[in-house]
Amino acid sequence: MQFGKIVAAVGSLAVLMGMSAGASAQGSLNLYCANQEEWCRAVVAAFEKKTGIKVNMTRKSSGEWYAQVKAEASNPKGDVWWAGTGDPHLQAGEEGLLEPYKSPMLAELQDWAVRQAEQSGYKTVGVYAGALGFGYNTDQLKKKGLTELKCWSDLLDPKLKGEVQVADPNASGTSYTMLATMVQLMGEDKGFDYLKSMHKNVNQYTKSGAAPAKATALGETTVGITFMHDMVTEISRGAPIKVIAPCEGTGYEIGGMSLIKGARNMDNAKKWYDWVISVEAQTELVKAGSFQVQSNKNAPTHPLAPKLGEIKLINYDFKKYGSSAERQRLLSKWGKDVKALPN
Ligand code: F6P
Repeated sequence: MQFGKIVAAVGSLAVLMGMSAGASAQGSLNLYCANQEEWCRAVVAAFEKKTGIKVNMTRKSSGEWYAQVKAEASNPKGDVWWAGTGDPHLQAGEEGLLEPYKSPMLAELQDWAVRQAEQSGYKTVGVYAGALGFGYNTDQLKKKGLTELKCWSDLLDPKLKGEVQVADPNASGTSYTMLATMVQLMGEDKGFDYLKSMHKNVNQYTKSGAAPAKATALGETTVGITFMHDMVTEISRGAPIKVIAPCEGTGYEIGGMSLIKGARNMDNAKKWYDWVISVEAQTELVKAGSFQVQSNKNAPTHPLAPKLGEIKLINYDFKKYGSSAERQRLLSKWGKDVKALPN
C-alpha cells in the first residue's frame, strides 16, 4: 500500500515534470495588446492552443504602450506589441525602439498594410483598418429634444454641453487620430479652434479609445467619438446607438504590430507575428466581435463592419502624423491649448 502510494506519487511527479518540460520547451511570450480586451483574450487563447506557447498578455492603450516601450528600452520586458493605432508604432520605429522583420506573411496582406511596413523599414506592419466617427445614444438624444447629428460641426451645439465623450490623445490612439484628423481636414488653426469649441461639450477625456462607446451604450454620455467599429460592437450587443460617418469627411487608422527591440522571446514573438496576420487568426478576431477591416486579403470582414469604401475618408498622412516630432508637437499643443481650458 505504502509502496503503491510512493509509486503513484513518483509517477505523478514524472507526469508533472514531463508536462512542465513540454510547456517550457515551447516557452512563453510577453504580449502588449492594444485591441479590445475581449479580442486580445480570444486570439491569445487560440494561439496558446495551437502552439503550446504561454502568453502573458496585458491590455493598454496605444499611447500608453508607446510610453512603456520607450521607458523599458534599456531593459525590454515586452516581446511583441500587437494592435493599437499605427502612428505610435511608426514613432517608436523612428526612435529605434523596434526590431525590423520581413514576415513571409506580407505577401498575403492588403497594400495598405504592407505600405506601413515599407514606410517604416519593416519595423511595423498594418494589421487592420477602421474609420473614425461618432455614435449617439438615440434614447438620450430624443430625451434631450435634439435632432439627428450628422457632421463634426453638429458636436459644437451648446445644447450638447457635457454630452460628448472622447479619449485623451496622449493615452489613446483613437483620440490622437481625431486630433490629427481635424488638423488635416480643417487646417491647423481651424482644427484647433474646433477642438477648443468641442472641449466645452466634453464631459470626460478617457484613457481608452473605446470607453466612450461603452459609455454611449449605457447612456452615460449622449455622444461618443470613437472608431466606428467600436460603436458597432456596442450596437451588436443591443445598444440604442446610431453610428455616424461625419459629413465633412473623416480620418482612419491602420492598426499596427511591431516586434520590440531586444525582446527576450524573439522566436516566439515572430511566431505570433506571422500567425496573427493569417486568415486563421483574423477569423478568430472576427468571431470574437471585431468589426475592423482585417489586413489579410483572404480574411473575412464581418458583414456589419463599416464599409470604408462608402465613407468619405481624408487622405491621412501616416508618415507625417506618425513622425516623432509632429506627434509630440501636436500632443503638447493640445495639452496647452485645449485640455487646459476651463469648460
Ligand atoms: O477597440 C479597438 C480599437 O479601436 C482599435 O481599432 C484601435 O487600434 C484601438 O482600439 C485604439 O485604442 P486606444 O484608442 O485605446 O489606443
